[in-house]
Amino acid sequence: MTRATQLIHDELGRSFSGRSFISIHDFTTEEILRVMELTRVLKEEQKAGIPHPLLKGKTLGMIFLKPSTRTRISFEVAIWQLGGYGLFLNANDLQLKRGETIADTARVLSRYLDGLMIRTFAHSDVIELAKYGTIPVINGLTDLLHPCQVMADLFTGFERFGDLKGRKLAYVGDGNNMAHSLMFGGAKVGMHVTCVCPKGYEPNADVVAQARADGQITGARIEVVHDVEAGVANADILYTDVWASMGQEAEREKRVRDFAAYQLNEKVLAMAKPTAIVMHCLPAHRGEEITDEVADGPQSALWDEAENRLHVQKAILALVMS
Ligand code: CP
Ligand code: NVA
Repeated sequence: MTRATQLIHDELGRSFSGRSFISIHDFTTEEILRVMELTRVLKEEQKAGIPHPLLKGKTLGMIFLKPSTRTRISFEVAIWQLGGYGLFLNANDLQLKRGETIADTARVLSRYLDGLMIRTFAHSDVIELAKYGTIPVINGLTDLLHPCQVMADLFTGFERFGDLKGRKLAYVGDGNNMAHSLMFGGAKVGMHVTCVCPKGYEPNADVVAQARADGQITGARIEVVHDVEAGVANADILYTDVWASMGQEAEREKRVRDFAAYQLNEKVLAMAKPTAIVMHCLPAHRGEEITDEVADGPQSALWDEAENRLHVQKAILALVMS
């Protein structure tokens, strides 16, 4: 047995089998740390050229209702490196586009595939797919959450800091899907998360309340503030994301005005710890939420985060599809 197969097949590893990965909130701290541990092993093996066909012969469907660079390519490469086969499914080419229901799509695709990833608008689409399908469903981003991105971000944080317990992440920007998943992720691993946003752009109150409840167990403080200087003070990680997410293109001009004081620039970076690292899920709108100097500067962890999508998603796929 290899280390990876042990991590998948012991009691904790088996608890993932057949489960959907829709929100970090659905998993225990121990389970999140197991994904981190398996990611570390798989990343080391991949760097050393050791193949790990843990999902040999399995198929993963990937439905996209929104564009993607990282999610699409990292999932496609992930399933291939695990010995399986990935099918890219543009929702415009599926009968979904002509009104076939999510429930019927789930029933049918479950007869062909071993796993399904979906990127969509309504979070309820993912819940419904998982409800009516009989295979694990992985959330590749909804308007509410982006859990796979945050798993990669947590892994990047563990790589840089060893442990995240008691560390502080300050997210500067819109209270959106990234802010929500970061709060859920931080709460599970004991990392304080402060969302620094303009008035009117606060994160979903239910998500904040749930993350706070999770944080009570691990000691993570979950805060929402409007003052940039106070919000980023003492931060170990500074995070930002686009001001207008996919689907909000019509609001872009208004948002550029409303978020002007919430740019991650050198001045804001200097307000955090001198050892702070910078994260962004990407794609970035350079010159808006982040400046070139910060994105390309010595404190930037952007490209490690993007790479770690591949490794962390391999761990998730191997755990839920085994
Ligand atoms: N971060 C992220 O999910 O990127 P894509 O939109 O390119 O998939
Ligand atoms: N908040 C962004 C994240 C992109 C990865 C969006 O939903 O467009």
